[in-house]
Amino acid sequence: MNDLNKFKRYTVTSALPYANGPIHIGHLAGVYVPADIYVRFLRLNDADVIFLGGSDEHGVPITIKALREGVSPQDIVDRYHQIIKKSFEDFGISFDIYSRTSNPIHHETASAFFRKMYDAGQFIEKVSQQYYDESTGHFLADRYITGTCPHCGYDRAYGDQCEKCGTSLNATDLINPKSVLSGNLPVLKETRHWFLPLDQYEPWLREWIIEGHKDDWKPNVYGQCKSWIDQGLQPRAVTRDLDWGVKVPVEGAEGKVLYVWFDAPIGYISATRELTPDWEKYWKDKETKLVHFIGKDNIVFHCIIFPAMLKGEGSYILPENVPANEFLNLEGEKISTSRNWAVWLHEYLEDFPGKQDVLRYVLTSAAPETKDNDFTWKDFQARNNSELVAILGNFINRTIVLTHKYFGGKVPEQGILTDSDKLTLEGMGQFPDRIAKSLHGFRFREGLSEMMNLARLGNKYLTDNEPWKQFSSDPGRVATILNISLQICAQLTIVGEPFLPFSMKKVRQTLNLSPYKWQDASRLDWMKPGHQLNQPELLFEKIEDAAIEKQIQKLMATKAANEALQQKVPVKPGKETVQYDDFSKMDIRVGTILEAEKVPKTDKLLKLRIDTGIDQRTVVSGIAGYFKPTEIIGKRVCILVNLAPRKLKGIDSQGMILMAENPDGTLNFVTPDEGSVNGADIK
Ligand code: 2FM
Ligand code: ZN
Repeated sequence: MNDLNKFKRYTVTSALPYANGPIHIGHLAGVYVPADIYVRFLRLNDADVIFLGGSDEHGVPITIKALREGVSPQDIVDRYHQIIKKSFEDFGISFDIYSRTSNPIHHETASAFFRKMYDAGQFIEKVSQQYYDESTGHFLADRYITGTCPHCGYDRAYGDQCEKCGTSLNATDLINPKSVLSGNLPVLKETRHWFLPLDQYEPWLREWIIEGHKDDWKPNVYGQCKSWIDQGLQPRAVTRDLDWGVKVPVEGAEGKVLYVWFDAPIGYISATRELTPDWEKYWKDKETKLVHFIGKDNIVFHCIIFPAMLKGEGSYILPENVPANEFLNLEGEKISTSRNWAVWLHEYLEDFPGKQDVLRYVLTSAAPETKDNDFTWKDFQARNNSELVAILGNFINRTIVLTHKYFGGKVPEQGILTDSDKLTLEGMGQFPDRIAKSLHGFRFREGLSEMMNLARLGNKYLTDNEPWKQFSSDPGRVATILNISLQICAQLTIVGEPFLPFSMKKVRQTLNLSPYKWQDASRLDWMKPGHQLNQPELLFEKIEDAAIEKQIQKLMATKAANEALQQKVPVKPGKETVQYDDFSKMDIRVGTILEAEKVPKTDKLLKLRIDTGIDQRTVVSGIAGYFKPTEIIGKRVCILVNLAPRKLKGIDSQGMILMAENPDGTLNFVTPDEGSVNGADIK
C-alpha cells in the first residue's frame, strides 16, 4: 500500500546488533539490506525519514565474552562497535545515526523511561528464587547458566533461550543446570526484581495485533505473535543482578541493572535524541510511521514487549509494521558464530574488494522473507555472472559504449517510433509503480526482480534491434534505438538505487544526470537529445571459479575443524564445592625429579626420587605409559607431600605428583613457572 500520503514522516529502526562480534551475511540479509532499501526508496520519494541503528552494548553475551578473554566489557564493546560500524559503512547502509547503548544519553533515556513507569506503579516487585553460583558469588542471569532444554533435550540451552528449538526459557526450567562461570551446580537464592505484567496487556495486545494487524503484518510475524498471545502471557522480569548495564534507578537497587531487552529498544529513542533536538515528532506524533526491521528471533521483543513498554509509558507511538525476516542459512547449515559458520562482512570485502553491490544483490534475491533461505557460493557466482554481468551490466555498458561510438557520447534524437519502440516505452513506464508497490509492501525480492525485468526489457530491446548492424544503412533508426535505451538506463539508475547504490551512482555519473526523485523514473524523456555522457566505468565483472572454490575450501576447513572438535571427549563436569579449610590441608610443594626408573613387572608405574625442598623422597607414579624415565629426570613438578604413604608393588610411595589429565586420558605434568624454588608452597 502506498502510505506516502497517509504519514507525514517515517521512523525506521534496525535491530541493534550485540557488540560482541563482527557481523555476517545473515545480519545483512535479514535486517540491514532490506531496511536500507526501504529508506533509500522513501528518501527518493522525498519522505521525511530517519534511519536508526546502533550497537547493543549491554547483556550477558558481552560480559561472558569479556570474561573469556580476560578483558573488560567496555574493551569488548569498544572493539566491536568500531568493526560493526565500519562494515555498515562499507556496505552502504545509510543510517542517519549509528549510535551505541553505552552512551550517557542512552543511560539517561532508558533510566527515565523505567522511572516513569515505576512511578506510575506499572511494575510488580517480586522476590523470587534465582540460580546463584556460590563459588563465585554471582546470580546467574540469562546466559550465565546452561543446561538441558526441557522441550527438545538440547544439552547446551541457555537460561533465557534454547537456541536449538527457539523456545524462550526461564533458568529454572533447565534440566541439569550448570554455572557458565565455574561449571558448578548452582543453588537457588532469593532476590528481588521488577516485572512487567505482560498478562495485563494481553487484552490490548490481542486487539492491537490479532484484530488490528491481521492483514498488514507479514504472516510469519503475525503468526508468531498470535501464538505467543494464545499461549498466555506471563509477567517478565525487567531487571537483573548484574553490574554491566543501565543501573536500576530506584533506591535500594544496588547491584541491579535493567534487563538488556528492556534497555536495547529504548536505544532507538536515545539515538533519535542524539540525532536531533526535534526528536519527539519521530516518536510521539501519530502521523509518524514507525517501522522496525529485525530478524525472527527478535519478534517477541519488538511486537509484544517493547510495544507494551511504549503503551505503559504512555507518550509514544506504536510500530505500524515489523517486517521481520526468517533466517539465512549458509550452504545448507544454520549460520553460527561459535562454529565460525558464516561469511563475515570484513572478510568478504578482503576477498571481493569493491563488490558490495554484488553481495547486496545476492542477499536480496535470496532474502529469507517468508521462510528460511540458503546462501551458497555457487548461487552467488551464478547471480553475479548471469544476472548482474550478463543482463544489467551488459545492457547499460552496450548502450553507453554505442552512444559514444556513433554519436560522440551525446544523447541522440528519437525519430519515428515503431510498434516495438512504443511497446517498449509503454512497458518501461509501468515499472516504477510496480516496484514502489513491492517496496511499500516490504517485498524486496519482488522489487528487485522487477528491477531486473526492466534491465531484461532493455537488453532484449537492444539485442532484437541490433543497432550495430544498422548504422551505415540507417543512422536515424540507430539514434532512436539508443535514445530509448538511454531512457531505460536513466530509469534503472533511479529504481535500482535502493538496491545497488554503488553501481547506480557510477551509472548516474556516466549518464551525467542531475539529482532526481523516484517520480522522475516514470518520465520517458529523461535523457534529452544533445545531453553529453561521460565515459563508462566498469560496473560488474565475471567472478571466476577459482574465487568461488577458495570460499568453498575455507568453509570446508571450518567444517573439518568443527568436526575434529566434536569428536573430542568432553571435559569432565565440575566437582562439588569444597571449603577453603579442606583445600588448605593439602601441602603441595614445588619439587624436582632427581631419579626415575620403571617399577619391574608393571607397565604403568615409575619409581621417582624427588627433591621436595623439605627432603628427598620416593614417589611411585602411574605415568610410565606416557613418559620414559630418561625424559623426565630434572623435570620440575608439583607434589602433594602430605598424602598418607602407600605401599605400591612393595615400594613406599610418599606423596603424589600433580598431573593434568586431558579428557582423552593423556597426561601432562603441572610444571611450576621459572623462579619458584624447590619447597615453594603451592596455594
Ligand atoms: O538479537 C540481537 O542481536 C539484539 N542485540 C537485538 C536488539 S534490537 C533492539 F532492541 F535493540
Ligand atoms: Zn530446545
